[in-house]
Amino acid sequence: MKVLVTGGTGYIGSHTVVELLNRGFEVIIIDNLSNSREEVVHRIEKITGKSPLYFNIDVCNKADLKKFFSVYKVDATIHFAAFKAVGESVEKPLLYYRNNLLSLINLLELYAEFGFDNFLFSSSCSVYGQSDAQPVSESTPLKPAESPYGNTKQIGEEILRDSILARPFRGIALRYFNPAGAHSSALIGEYPLHAPNNLGPVITQTAIGKRESFTVFGNDYNTPDGTCIRDYIHVVDIATAHVDAVNRLIHKKNKKPFELYNLGTGRGYSVMEAITAFENSTGIKLKYNFGPRRPGDVEKVWADTARANSELGWKATRSLEEIMNSAWGWEKQMTRNSNKITG
Ligand code: WQD
Repeated sequence: MKVLVTGGTGYIGSHTVVELLNRGFEVIIIDNLSNSREEVVHRIEKITGKSPLYFNIDVCNKADLKKFFSVYKVDATIHFAAFKAVGESVEKPLLYYRNNLLSLINLLELYAEFGFDNFLFSSSCSVYGQSDAQPVSESTPLKPAESPYGNTKQIGEEILRDSILARPFRGIALRYFNPAGAHSSALIGEYPLHAPNNLGPVITQTAIGKRESFTVFGNDYNTPDGTCIRDYIHVVDIATAHVDAVNRLIHKKNKKPFELYNLGTGRGYSVMEAITAFENSTGIKLKYNFGPRRPGDVEKVWADTARANSELGWKATRSLEEIMNSAWGWEKQMTRNSNKITG
């Protein structure tokens, strides 16, 4: 079975490629390396002993994508390739709407042209906005997205749903909560080309000394310790959910042509609990200060995972400590070998 993974050299994409290869799928990665490195392909080979095909293709370039599909008849596609920095999306909304929506529209137009089936869309808990009640389930009404990034995920789900209604093929949108951590080999992990904004790498870069300290954005929220609550989920748990979702489509187990699943642990942790989990699991004291709230942050969000547990037969198994430990292992390896990362 041949699976196309767009954005497959990225953070979640690379971890998903590893799990797909480990389970005997043939994988083709297309990625324009706008926020990742070709080196990741070699590291995937090192971990799995298998070689995915890799092509440097921009999914926004329809002509290149069409050439690709005219040669490679894929059995399923997992579409990760997108820009994902919430803050950047506020500063550059058109860049996000163009990239995240045009790439999806290109893929779906060519899917229809070539008569392909089985499409997985990488969505996000940011589609919920600030819900009145937690945990959020897939039927929780969506609030207006807090950022253009979150809006591209809301619109992306609607584009997929409407395309499926117009031409019966099958698709699943997976709503990630807060992916964090790294593969146990410490060969792949979160490795953006630019300075990271999200909590995981900010913590590990502070711990290793790449940054003096970091700011906790707000401790005056209506939460037990005043800091925001999120559902941090190990990136390998996210990856295994994609394998289960591909299998569900390929083996025609889906109940409806378009399905939606939350990918979370079902447990919310505050920023302070995440910091404590890192300090306890590594023995390293972090340097941080409390600052003003970050625009666009929701106060709390965590997942109701019942549907993914029962229908996908999938459950997150890794703890917050394992997340922090694996993130720390990756940071140390990356810093040790940072002069060796090429491509
Ligand atoms: C988590 C918490 C911050 C940095 C976004 C997207 C989501 C996903 C992950 C792509 C918040 C606090 C952070 C720092 C801090 N994107 N924080 N100091 O914003 O919940 O989720 O990124 O997959 O779709 O919405 O993640 O890690 O940026 O923030 O206090 O230096 O950590 O305020 O409460 P977020 P995050």
